[in-house]
Amino acid sequence: MNFILRRLLSGGRAVYPAGTPSVHYSSVAPEIRERTLIAVKPDGVQRRLVGEIIKRFERRGFKLVGIKMLQASEGILAKHYHDLQTKPFYPSLLRYMASGPVVAMVWEGHNVVRSSRLMVGDTDSSQAKPGTVRGDLSVHISRNIIHASDSVEVAEKEIGLWFHRAELTNWETNDHSDLYQV
Ligand code: PPS
Repeated sequence: MNFILRRLLSGGRAVYPAGTPSVHYSSVAPEIRERTLIAVKPDGVQRRLVGEIIKRFERRGFKLVGIKMLQASEGILAKHYHDLQTKPFYPSLLRYMASGPVVAMVWEGHNVVRSSRLMVGDTDSSQAKPGTVRGDLSVHISRNIIHASDSVEVAEKEIGLWFHRAELTNWETNDHSDLYQV
């Protein structure tokens, strides 16, 4: 009897052949609920890099729990970049961020805030290491393709700014092994 048939007859529980040593695996992963805000900026959208960026986060193993495309309003951008108001580049940063649609996303996973900052690379694209999003895909700080929250606290605030609670989807991991473990 093959694995799927035995599994169906046992009500969905995995049934191993008699004599299989019983090994109990316990998950070492802690409760994973850390989330971060990732936004593909207007230059990333215009350059058709949305799929490339999503692919990198999915392949790393993070879980997409929210995504939307929007033309960011002046209000949301002013709140998002509130701490940079006195910087000389603030006006041009806001113009750039309002120059076209952005794709805002919420990603979930173990240490996702820190890991995504490493994946994104140095703010200044010319300093970003190869292998990072900015190091591979951009050349200048003023067109650096992507935003990633820089701490867990900031991530919470930014997610609250860009998303309504109902726009986020909690979903359980299911590897569909019933179909693929034959
Ligand atoms: S700073 O000056 O240290 O506060 O800047 P930093 O924390 O590195 O970056 C904050 C955000 O400002 C953007 N930035 C710029 N945009 C346009 N031009 C220039 N020169 C510039 N310098 C910094 C930078 O990309 C950060 O935005 P996010 O959305 O977080 O990437």
